[in-house]
Amino acid sequence: METLNRIASQGEHGATMMPIIQGVGRAAVEIAALLRGAVFRGALGAAGSENVQGETQQKLDILSDEIFLEEMRSTGFVCAVGSEEQEDLCLIKEYSSADWLVLVDPLDGSSNLDVDGPVGTIFSIIKRKTANSETPLESDTLQSGREVIAAGYVLYGPSTMLVCSVGEGVDGFTFNPSTARFELSHPAMTIPQQGGYYSVNESNADKWLDNKGEALQKLKDETGLGMRYVGAMVADMHRTLLKGGLFLYPADEVNTNGKLRLLYEAIPMGYLMVQAGGSAHTGIEEVLDVQPKSLHQRVPVYLGANKAVDTLVR
Ligand code: AHG
Ligand code: MN
Ligand code: MN
Repeated sequence: METLNRIASQGEHGATMMPIIQGVGRAAVEIAALLRGAVFRGALGAAGSENVQGETQQKLDILSDEIFLEEMRSTGFVCAVGSEEQEDLCLIKEYSSADWLVLVDPLDGSSNLDVDGPVGTIFSIIKRKTANSETPLESDTLQSGREVIAAGYVLYGPSTMLVCSVGEGVDGFTFNPSTARFELSHPAMTIPQQGGYYSVNESNADKWLDNKGEALQKLKDETGLGMRYVGAMVADMHRTLLKGGLFLYPADEVNTNGKLRLLYEAIPMGYLMVQAGGSAHTGIEEVLDVQPKSLHQRVPVYLGANKAVDTLVR
């Protein structure tokens, strides 16, 4: 059975990315165990703090962030991590001369935790711009999706899956408890260009900007797609990859730049969607062309089959 080691033989960067993605796999196993036992350790619920975006942090957001950072440190190849849960770039001082930075949403969809819904981890890996002798800077993270070397997500569902790409297509690995490792279960994932679902929080429709309500109605009229919405980007993205359709989070009068974060949600998911033969757009430009200006900036997101995305953004 092929394991994450398959990555080492993929393209120009596979061998270099493999130990970091193995580190993501170790973090995923630890986080999955944490989630399964959280209720018995009083680890559910809010931490009583807010993240840099003023959003209430769940205890598991903070614990997952700590686990992820420790596993990135243990790879020995990562000099810094930019995390949704940390206002500033987290330096890994023992490896401040390493080549790679990781951007991460350690626990995506955390509002699902108290109702035992699916959640995920989203990551992307980029090469530092500063010299290895220098201290990594936040400016090292402000690279467009065209510079991403690898990206992926973990889905904590009935099974724990790690879906990733190093630029040679998208592979899905499922954690096998009997061998205690991730094994290839979904090789060369490509998005169906017909069928599937549209996936959006329609309760915001009356506030959407740029006539996106009319554009979505046009998609519904043309395709008759059903609707599914889990409320965790990783789960909604994974279903869209497998079944087809469109996931969208438009800008609205409250979130005028959209809700999802560019560096550790839109770019990694956009990279994967494009690698799987789909499209990723902000409504203004392709996600992978956006030049980031700050670590936690937000963008509107339209991810999915090419024709469906075109209907919403053209
Ligand atoms: P996070 O839990 O990392 O803050 O992400 C939540 C995001 C994303 O997972 C999901 O697609 C979206 O928030 C759901 O937002 P609504 O609850 O507004 O629909
Ligand atoms: Mn998220
Ligand atoms: Mn999160």
